[in-house]
Amino acid sequence: MTTDETIALFRQYVVPNYGRFPVVLVRGEGSHVWDSDGARYLDLFPGWGCNLLGHCPAPVVEAVQKQVAELIHVPNTWYTEAQGLWAKALSERSFGGQAFFCNSGTEANEAAIKLARLHGSPKHRYKIITFSGGFHGRTLGATTATAQPKYHEGLGPLMAGFVYAPFGDLAAVERLVDDETAAILIEPIQGEGGVNLPPDGFLAGLRRIADERGLLLMFDEVQTGCGRTGEWFAYQHFGVVPDVMTLAKAVCGGVAGGALLTTPEIALSLRPGMHAATFGGNPLAARAGIATLEMIDDQNLLARGKAIGELFKQRLTELSRQCDAVREVRVLGAMIGLELMRDGAPVVKGCLERRLLVNCTHNTVIRLLPALTLTDAEAHEGCDILAEVVKSLPAG
Ligand SMILES: Cc1ncc(COP(=O)(O)O)c(C=O)c1O
Repeated sequence: MTTDETIALFRQYVVPNYGRFPVVLVRGEGSHVWDSDGARYLDLFPGWGCNLLGHCPAPVVEAVQKQVAELIHVPNTWYTEAQGLWAKALSERSFGGQAFFCNSGTEANEAAIKLARLHGSPKHRYKIITFSGGFHGRTLGATTATAQPKYHEGLGPLMAGFVYAPFGDLAAVERLVDDETAAILIEPIQGEGGVNLPPDGFLAGLRRIADERGLLLMFDEVQTGCGRTGEWFAYQHFGVVPDVMTLAKAVCGGVAGGALLTTPEIALSLRPGMHAATFGGNPLAARAGIATLEMIDDQNLLARGKAIGELFKQRLTELSRQCDAVREVRVLGAMIGLELMRDGAPVVKGCLERRLLVNCTHNTVIRLLPALTLTDAEAHEGCDILAEVVKSLPAG
């Protein structure tokens, strides 16, 4: 099919709830994708962070190919070796907890919300504190947890029981806690909010408040998790261990999957019958998830994530010195934000014209979530194009 024919199908048959670029992608390999006209693009935002290992990473492809011929799906009324091994692999790389599996980030956060309420229910604790600029997903609970009015418009009444604090403001959190508070839910680094790093001591302060007031500290690591930041999980940079952690995006190396991890004691609150996901932890996702973690180990990709971060930090800081249009560079591993003094949409467009894929979030932040398999040459090529586009922005 031609590009126009495919787009015509969408016009007629697909709900137009996404803004799409007029490009039909047909193939991906590593940090490159190809469109239906054969053009190749360098992808510094592969799969919105899901393709942490690049497009079609061989170990994940092989694991899925093998599994798909053996057993595609069985419900959670049965045991499968794959799900057990996946839970073990995640547990061993994090805080030694247990996993509940689902299929996406918003589902993982819904599970966290329900777990917090169930855990708090004997004491009628149900309120959850979340943070301005945060993002937790699109189901109604996760949308309500997302403290951004633009995502709430027209959806009211929202779910009761969420209160919002400014990101970084410990005193505000202290003020918001009352006898009905069950949990604090936060992204350790805000992704969609613009790659916002927590101020020094902030996460440790939340841990202290949670301990003092008997709350669950829940980290949404949907975007930051599984090696994105150069550690298995972002919390490991800050030495602050959560009670509950949610994962999705990269957790299955590009295959759909999600997970919630928590301690065995807290896990008891999600008692049988109170929550479920039909496809959660299915053998395909589980094998992809295990292959993802093993590939990161085998290819030493956590160290690679740190090196990628250093390279981008250096190149983008250089750009910020040369160019007034840059306000700030924020980097942790392969999670990269370039905040501009102006609208970033023309930068995304200019990069696309030069066959470089980047993202803009919160109007002014160019966000890059490159694959951990990105080579230095590819990183420099991307930085060269991005710098050229940013420098060519008209003044003002
Ligand atoms: C931090 C965070 N939480 C949750 C979500 C929602 O994940 P999903 O789109 O898989 O539901 C996202 C998606 O961007 C995210 O970045």
